[in-house]
Formats: sequence, C-alpha cells, structure tokens
Amino acid sequence: MAHDLLILAGDGIGPEVMGEVKKVVGWFNANGMDFAVEEDLVGGCAYDAHGQAVSDATMDKALKADAVLLGAVGGPKWDKVPYEVRPEAGLLRLRKDLELFANLRPAKCFDALADFSSLKRELVEGLDILIVRELTGGVYFGEPKEIRDLGNGQKRAIDTQVYDTYEIDRIASVAFELARVRDNRVCSMEKRNVMRSGVLWHDVVEEVHKARYSDVQLNHMLADAGGMQLVRRPKQFDVIVTDNLFGDMLSDVAAMLTGSLGMLPSASLGAPDAATGRRKALYEPVHGSAPDIAGKGLANPIACILSFAMALRYSFEAGEAADRLERAVEQVLAQGVRTADLIGPEGGAPASTVQMGDAIVAALEGNA
Ligand code: NAI
Ligand code: MG
Repeated sequence: MAHDLLILAGDGIGPEVMGEVKKVVGWFNANGMDFAVEEDLVGGCAYDAHGQAVSDATMDKALKADAVLLGAVGGPKWDKVPYEVRPEAGLLRLRKDLELFANLRPAKCFDALADFSSLKRELVEGLDILIVRELTGGVYFGEPKEIRDLGNGQKRAIDTQVYDTYEIDRIASVAFELARVRDNRVCSMEKRNVMRSGVLWHDVVEEVHKARYSDVQLNHMLADAGGMQLVRRPKQFDVIVTDNLFGDMLSDVAAMLTGSLGMLPSASLGAPDAATGRRKALYEPVHGSAPDIAGKGLANPIACILSFAMALRYSFEAGEAADRLERAVEQVLAQGVRTADLIGPEGGAPASTVQMGDAIVAALEGNA
C-alpha cells in the first residue's frame, strides 16, 4: 500500500528546499518504494489564499496522512497580520492538533564539515546524538501562567512547570524505543535537586526503564551538568531525553556543535494509533523561511532532505533507505559540493539549491 505523504512547503525558501526533497521522493518511488504525495498550503501562503495559516481541510489531510513534511513558514510580508492567523499559528495548530509531544533533534557531525563546528574537530568527528524533547507540556503550558499586579507597585510573574506521570512515561518510552535502533543508550536530564517535577521525571523514567526497557542502558544527569558535558565531551551521549524547557536549550546547543542551520532536520511524533500502531508525525528543517536569501537559489536543501530521511526511518520503517539517503548526503559533502552557507572564509564557488539536490540524487543513484 502506498505511504501517504503530505507536503506543506510553506513560505520563503520552503518551496525551494522542498523542490529538492520531491526529487528525492521521486527517486525512491522509481526504486521500489511507493509514496503518494499530496501538497497543500501552510503559513503565509495559506493566509493569502484563504485567510487562515492552516485551513480545516488541510488539517484533515494532516490527520489522515502517514507523515507530514513541512518546509518553513513566515516572512516580513506577514508581519502585520493579526496574531491568531499569523503564519506561525499554522505550525502551532499542526503540532497541537496532531498532539506531537515528542520532538526529535539529531546532532550529527558530517566528517566533511567537522571544521565548521565551534569545537575542535576531534571532539565532534563521528558525533551522532539524538535529543528527545518533550514538546506539549512543562513550563511553557503549565497553569497558572500570568503577571499579577501586587498592588504595591510590584508585579509578580508566574510560570508553572507541570508534568503528569503519563506525559513522562510516553516521552521516556519514545526515547527508549529510539535508543534500541541506535546505540541503545539513554541519558535522562532534569533538575531533581531543586525541582519537584525533576523528582517525578527521574522516578517515572526509572520505572518505565525497569518495566519495559531494561535492555537499554540508562543514566541520569542534572540538566546543567548535562549542558557542560555536551560541550566538553559530546560523544559520550547517544539519546538524551529531557523536558520542554531544558530540551529547547540543550537541542540548540547540541545543534551548533555540528555546523550550519541549513543542515539540521527535526521530527515531531505523536502517540501510536490504536489500530495501526503508527505515530502521527511531522518532519521539518530547524531553520525558518530565510527571507534574506529566498528566491535566489542559495538555500541549502540538506536540512529538509535529512528531515525526509527521518520520515523514512521513523514513519515508514525504512531504515535502510534512510541510511542510503544519509550516506548520499555524506558523499556529496565529501566531494566538496557546498551551498553558500557551507563555505568558509577560504571561499570557493557555491552550489545552488538545485545543484545540491541534483548531486544528492546522483549519489543515491550511485553514479555521483
Ligand atoms: P531563519 O532560519 O529563516 O534564518 C536565519 C539565517 O540562517 C538567515 O541568514 C538565513 O539566510 C540562514 N538560513 C536559514 N536556513 C538556511 C538554509 N536552508 N540554507 C542557507 N541558509 C539558511 O530564521 P529567521 O531569519 O530568524 O526567521 C525568518 C522567518 O522564518 C521569520 O518569519 C520567522 O518567524 C520564520 N521562522 C520559521 C520557522 C519555521 O517555519 N519552523 C522557524 C524559525 C523561523
Ligand atoms: Mg529554540
């Protein structure tokens, strides 16, 4: 049966990088896989078309699809659009309505780009970390959340960190399952020394591990110490699981160990469907719509292409296809093909978005 893939290219460089992903999907379709691709609007382009950043009809398609692949949304053109219908609202609605509670952010160092890292080459060569961030709970959503007027010239700002057992259980389960198809190691990060939610987090992760995943190696780290270890000796980690706030920061830190924003993919997963076992999933590059380079053919399509590789791995049980695609990217980089964002001060002529995509398809074909 065909895999249903909903492509929402979005705004700015979104359609440019997605154009290259479509070539890659086409290659897999010509080589034994079966993706039925549907395309629709999200973000500013959707607002222009029908006044909403994501329409109900698009949401229906997203809910039915086996996976959603998103480019990027937003741009200066929509800066004055009302808050509820701004382009980013489309992204938030997708995440919320699909209940995507697990955000996966890999930090993988491609050998050819090791000198782009802020750390020494030997610290990042071969680096391959996956940060699993809880995305729908914690301090960004907990109540009360307000600024209170205390009436004495003072105000009090309140944010509340809230986690229930089931939220920690399901994110820990995702982390353990992912570890099983990687290096089988999970490090859980919280601050149980100063936060009650950290105590529950630690204890639930322990219980889930004991009950269902005792074959996976587990250790715990306080999140601040974990941050230090990430920049001191990053290769000690395989899968890191942490809450929404710590995950937001730690995943950005880890990402910068490996180079350009144009290289970073992500996945957001929901709960497994009761009937099929398949998780709702949204795959997207970490970068935005890059209005400064949009329309110029300069964007690096690799972040979006690697997001599709994640879809192959996590939505379509096609780990070998994902490996093959990642190897093609690695090979093209090793050959010295570089979009402008991957060119250091030493210079060199940049490849265009289309040239980079073509080189990756050629490498897939094995005749690069
Ligand atoms: P951005 O990620 O779009 O760009 C930051 C810088 O990185 C720019 O100089 C850009 O040219 C460069 N860059 C980004 N992706 C690149 C790629 N694939 N290849 C080469 N260079 C790349 O972030 P910025 O400028 O803060 O935001 C621009 C717009 O994108 C805003 O409207 C923002 O709201 C939106 N945005 C959307 C996101 C999403 O759709 N998930 C995420 C972040 C921002
Ligand atoms: Mg962030």
